[in-house]
Amino acid sequence: MQNANLKKYFFPITIISTIVLTIGLLLLAFNLGDSDFSNSKLIIPEILEYKEEAGIKKYEIDVNKTNYEFVEGVASKTYGFSGEILGPTIRFDKGDKVEIKVNNNLDEKTTTHWHGALLPDHADGGVHNIIPAGEEWVAKFEIVQEAATLWYHPHQHEETARQVYNGLGGMIIIDDENSKDLELPDQYGVDDFPIIIQSKNLDDNGKLRPYKIGHHEEVHGLEGNTVMINAQIDPYIDAQTNLIRLRVLNASNSDLYEISLSNSDEFYVIASDGGFYEKPIKVSELEISTGKRFEILLNIEDLNEDIWLNVNNEPELEIRKAKDIEDKYKIPNTLNEINEYLYGGQIDFEIIMEFLRGPRQSMLYGINGKLFDMNRIDLEVPAESVQYWKISNEVGGGSPFHPFHIHATQFQIVEFNGESPNELMQGYHDTIFLRPNDEAILAVPFHPVVKGVYMYHCHILEHEDAGMMGQFEVR
Ligand code: C2O
Ligand code: CU
Ligand code: CU
Repeated sequence: MQNANLKKYFFPITIISTIVLTIGLLLLAFNLGDSDFSNSKLIIPEILEYKEEAGIKKYEIDVNKTNYEFVEGVASKTYGFSGEILGPTIRFDKGDKVEIKVNNNLDEKTTTHWHGALLPDHADGGVHNIIPAGEEWVAKFEIVQEAATLWYHPHQHEETARQVYNGLGGMIIIDDENSKDLELPDQYGVDDFPIIIQSKNLDDNGKLRPYKIGHHEEVHGLEGNTVMINAQIDPYIDAQTNLIRLRVLNASNSDLYEISLSNSDEFYVIASDGGFYEKPIKVSELEISTGKRFEILLNIEDLNEDIWLNVNNEPELEIRKAKDIEDKYKIPNTLNEINEYLYGGQIDFEIIMEFLRGPRQSMLYGINGKLFDMNRIDLEVPAESVQYWKISNEVGGGSPFHPFHIHATQFQIVEFNGESPNELMQGYHDTIFLRPNDEAILAVPFHPVVKGVYMYHCHILEHEDAGMMGQFEVR
């Protein structure tokens, strides 16, 4: 009897346990985010169209409150520029005169900042260029800088971190004669890919958790539990040419990412924040802090298998090699001509990032002993000058790093911890990553179009919102 009963129940029990186990394993794979296969093709943000009128390229973007599915079938409340999440890629050519109209359809105020662009303060989109809910703002400027990958994001003081977390951010690509002459992959979305890396907090169902910060986030910034590429989890790209180009942007609230390839192969870094390096730099890993961009070239020809782009040693973007690889591009020996600023030892401005003890809060990060004040100018800078800024992270004691960003300039690092900058620190940057006790001297040039009030700040958005920011006026 007992035996017969056992047999009767054994089969259904086996099936049920198999199902439960499979679901469990699937959930586990999803939560760990490192499944070894990818089934959705990377979504490429579309290129923003423009109308040309009287020699001016006119663009328009909407700031939307919307929904997006990070996981199929699970809608999350998000913000997006002219879409459900992130935003279209904006392309400019050096010399263009542009007008970008931004319609704020949110029910809160925002600003739209063109990170890395050299422009007058009325067009910068910093904390003073507020667009009230339901209103519009037009940024008018001229593209005076060389080919580079920049980006745009909100800069509403005290709300930046949440607005970015909710989904706002997009890429800007500038071309010039040099970038067009180089035989680099330049077919957008085909062999030249925008790679926007972020992390966000998803719940067990794959729904975006509302933005919330506690003590950990105040100290380190928000580090999400899920890494995404162009707001997608584990996507893939098809590589069809001998070289592919990835424009890597770290648009996360705070994360520091280390980029590598799953087969440990070397790759080439060809551009930093503000444009091409003089020569390609061969690396096997690349550190990128929030706010920064690097353009990299991957050699596809030599691959025997599909590989992954790893972010902090986790596979996040699969690179599938096509059967027929088109031999189309080559790695140039020279990418750019960079006139280095000769450093004579002077310091025009010193910036110290440090702890502040607030009256109620136990600690905050400040700059030169102060928290941000919109009505205070911390430094006056003569127009069209090159300034030498010394920046040190004196927070110390195993506490966080700070990626330091300056608006409306592409600076050169002339000294890092008393030594000349390494290869990756050469070239043009608008954000520099400083670990505790690091110290850098920067040559900060101000282009003639740069006039007015701008910000410098830590690009950990929670630090910035809490006041780790200052202002300079170019006049
Ligand atoms: Cu990426 Cu002040 O900004
Ligand atoms: Cu900026
Ligand atoms: Cu910081």
